[in-house]
Amino acid sequence: MLKKIVVGVSFLILLVIGVLVYYHYNDTSESEYQYLKVELPVHYSGKKFAGSESCIPCHESIYKTHISTAHYNTSALADSENILGSFSPKENEINLAGVKVTMTQEEGGSYQSTKTYHGKVLEKSKIDITIGSGVKGQSYLTFEEDSLYQLQASYFTLTDSWINSPGFPNYGYKRPVMDNCIKCHVTFAKNEKFSGNSNVYDKNSFMYGVDCERCHGPSQEHVDYRVGNLKTLDFDPIVRAETLNRQQQMDACAQCHAGLRTNQITENPFSFLIGESLEENSKNFSSGKPNTELDVHGNQYGLLISSPCFKESEEMSCVTCHDPHKNQRDNSQYFNSKCLSCHEQPQNLHTVDSVSNLTDFTNCIQCHMPEFPSRVMKVRSIEDGLEKSVDVRTHLIGIYIDSILQ
Ligand code: HEC
Ligand code: HEC
Ligand code: HEC
Ligand code: HEC
Ligand code: HEC
Ligand code: HEC
Ligand code: HEC
Repeated sequence: MLKKIVVGVSFLILLVIGVLVYYHYNDTSESEYQYLKVELPVHYSGKKFAGSESCIPCHESIYKTHISTAHYNTSALADSENILGSFSPKENEINLAGVKVTMTQEEGGSYQSTKTYHGKVLEKSKIDITIGSGVKGQSYLTFEEDSLYQLQASYFTLTDSWINSPGFPNYGYKRPVMDNCIKCHVTFAKNEKFSGNSNVYDKNSFMYGVDCERCHGPSQEHVDYRVGNLKTLDFDPIVRAETLNRQQQMDACAQCHAGLRTNQITENPFSFLIGESLEENSKNFSSGKPNTELDVHGNQYGLLISSPCFKESEEMSCVTCHDPHKNQRDNSQYFNSKCLSCHEQPQNLHTVDSVSNLTDFTNCIQCHMPEFPSRVMKVRSIEDGLEKSVDVRTHLIGIYIDSILQ
């Protein structure tokens, strides 16, 4: 009996000491936060990922705005909430030349089925991954064992309907996903052999969305260094933006915004880390086409560097106009204010002339960065036979008399 009490009391004392020790070492001002302990992959460089939740204690405001960006939401494990296409009868199907594709929600997940017009099921695939935040649309991927494929039907935001995926034939088809899609729409993924054109992946290695560590590099070392050490800077392993030259800053965005870059020079597309030279990692195949071709999956980088604003200024880069941590879509006032950080007031730049007859020059981007219809993301309407396409914004800043006359 006495022995039992002694054991009990010593246990209690140990528990109290344990709790005190725990709180002592966690005595940072952010102790209300719990670090999320999940198994995260290790980058090819050997550097560990920390996951964006672990940035919250110290960079909370950035985290909070970042989760509403198109980047963060550009891919996810599919669930009953994040698939944008409709599952209601009639709205849940597309009719192609030889087959009908039907989308259904069932216990266990959401599916795309390809059927003959007699109703015979040719193929039924689970929607495992969503690609696209839905600004323009969304595509879907499926795993067959560990092999990854893109599915036939995509969602098109402009018409709020399912369409045949861009570039797909109009019979039953699913496209193997090698590095394509994945390299720009997720933070990280491990493929059996990227250089061998394999579509076999390590499912557990996926980090969805374009998250902090795709742009800043795997940051566990930075987190370890910073916990309890907020002030000094000397040995912080994180790459600081101010230490990068303009090309290095541009490369951080160009890995995904400079064409498809299918000429992969290094082992794999995820090996690139901020601060490195992108030219040594991947290139666009020279196709004879100018790098200023405009479309979804276009080349904002190539267009911008061809503009007088870029060529004749030392400092312009993507972050001159874009805050990578915020959703700024349609905030034209913000973008126009950026033009005025270099240019004079519009009344000093423009003559109200016979060309335009316009007197309101406040919306700079409407005239100097106009939108053009996409040639890949479009559908022909069944009702009126007319083509509907999304608009893409050119980054070739210039004088477009034609688009003003429209
Ligand atoms: C325990 C606190 C802490 C955590 C957790 C933390 N950071 Fe930091 N971070 C800092 C401090 C302090 C600085 C230096 C700030 C300064 O120079 O003003 C910093 C600087 C940075 C910078 C450099 C900014 C520059 O000057 O260019 C980046 C990028 C960054 N952190 C990203 C991250 C990411 C991504 C995560 C999560 C994976 C993260 N941090 C987690 C404290 C932290
Ligand atoms: C890993 C690839 C990747 C990197 C790196 C990247 N982006 Fe993106 N970006 C994307 C993808 C994918 C989308 C489309 C997201 C969607 O709507 O699904 C996108 C969309 C955007 C958009 C449109 C946002 C909107 O609201 O529709 C802007 C602006 C943008 N990126 C700017 C940048 C800038 C600036 C950088 C560099 C600081 C950068 N991106 C780096 C992949 C990337
Ligand atoms: C080289 C990088 C890259 C590759 C490869 C890539 N994407 Fe994208 N994707 C982007 C960027 C950047 C955007 C948005 C900006 C734009 O319009 O150019 C985008 C936009 C999209 C959108 C529209 C998202 C939205 O709501 O605005 C979808 C859907 C999409 N991609 C699907 C795919 C699929 C499917 C594949 C593979 C077949 C793929 N992408 C391959 C970079 C890439
Ligand atoms: C699309 C790429 C991209 C993503 C995603 C991204 N950042 Fe950044 N971040 C940048 C760039 C580029 C800069 C430098 C901005 C500048 O020079 O004006 C930057 C600057 C910073 C800074 C220092 C400047 C500041 O505003 O305090 C911190 C800290 C930071 N990022 C943390 C994060 C965290 C945390 C996340 C995720 C929640 C994140 N970033 C996501 C590209 C990105
Ligand atoms: C970093 C500074 C900078 C920013 C920001 C900037 N520009 Fe420029 N821009 C220049 C410089 C430098 C030139 C070349 C000299 C000149 O014509 O003033 C130029 C040239 C131009 C021209 C003449 C193009 C031609 O073909 O002759 C137009 C139009 C223009 N800018 C519009 C804009 C608009 C619109 C914005 C905002 C979306 C903008 N600029 C943002 C620096 C900038
Ligand atoms: C001079 C200002 C300026 C610079 C510099 C700039 N952008 Fe933009 N960007 C814009 C404006 C304005 C929009 C239209 C935003 C909107 O309507 O919501 C835009 C839109 C985008 C979009 C969405 C395109 C679409 O068709 O929907 C992407 C992606 C993008 N920018 C990427 C980049 C990248 C990458 C860089 C660097 C290579 C860059 N931007 C540099 C002003 C700029
Ligand atoms: C209604 C369309 C329209 C709007 C809005 C507009 N511009 Fe222009 N801009 C033009 C046209 C057309 C020209 C060339 C003819 C002229 O000089 O009037 C031009 C010329 C320019 C030039 C070249 C001037 C030179 O001397 O070569 C610059 C720089 C410029 N605009 C910047 C801006 C800025 C900054 C804004 C926003 C504050 C803006 N523009 C708004 C149509 C527009």
